[in-house]
Amino acid sequence: MKELTLTIRGGVDKDGRPDHIKEIEIHSGEIVAIVGPTGSGKSSLIADIEQFAQGDTPSGRRILIDGREPDLQMRSDPRKKLVAQVSQNMHFLADMSVEEFLRMHAKSRGKDPALAGRVIELANTLTGEPVRPDYPLTILSGGQSRALMTADIAVISDSPIVLIDEIENAGIKKQEALHLLAGEGKIVVVVTHDPMLALMSSRRLVMKNGGMTKVISTTAEEHRVFKDIERVDSWLTGLRETIRQGEVVA
Ligand SMILES: Nc1ncnc2c1ncn2[C@@H]1O[C@H](COP(=O)(O)OP(=O)(O)OP(=O)(O)O)[C@@H](O)[C@H]1O
Ligand SMILES: [Mg+2]
Repeated sequence: MKELTLTIRGGVDKDGRPDHIKEIEIHSGEIVAIVGPTGSGKSSLIADIEQFAQGDTPSGRRILIDGREPDLQMRSDPRKKLVAQVSQNMHFLADMSVEEFLRMHAKSRGKDPALAGRVIELANTLTGEPVRPDYPLTILSGGQSRALMTADIAVISDSPIVLIDEIENAGIKKQEALHLLAGEGKIVVVVTHDPMLALMSSRRLVMKNGGMTKVISTTAEEHRVFKDIERVDSWLTGLRETIRQGEVVA
């Protein structure tokens, strides 16, 4: 995948005061978290990136790709789509099976329809509730949809930038989903309050009152804490599975 740099140029907060962070550059393969209290502007920042804002949103921010304003073709041609979003729900309207949908998506992107199988396989590593090729899209749970969407973005879509807003209760293996996407060389920007996701990111951008107030680079100590959280998380996952299987915790 083509390497690129995403630049966010500061604008203003809700009171019209300039962002403390004047500019942040994010590179391919990097995971950046966006943190901050409710109403602090996290989703608005994601929306700025999604729309390639050029001073035309309430924040007045500008989004640059490789240091330049993306041209109109980059912004509108779906085949050149730079940004994919793992949203809260998929809004599947089509009356199709999982496999039909994925084959169609692959074809529309000029790719081998057989990739559908790989997407389903990958989705099943991200969710505990198996997704089968013949399932109609409309019966998928939130967790299954998101796992499928994540795997689809990793395998079929070429979008080099992935935006994720609130994956918390997604019902999918969150850190594996992020590793997968970043491992494909994508830029991953994730809104999260989850310590595990925040600390597996290389940096976190702190939002307050609509403004970008600071950037924290994950410290060595935080990285050690992340390793601890990962161990606790896999222990909990194991316990959950034992309980789900109707067994006794030994
Ligand atoms: N820089 C800004 N300038 C003007 N308005 C803003 C700015 N940033 C955010 N807002 C407005 O503030 C409100 C809350 O912002 P937003 O929804 O982005 O917060 P959030 O951090 O995503 O909150 P939550 O955690 O509840 O999802 C929205 O109405 C949004 O339009
Ligand atoms: Mg939000």
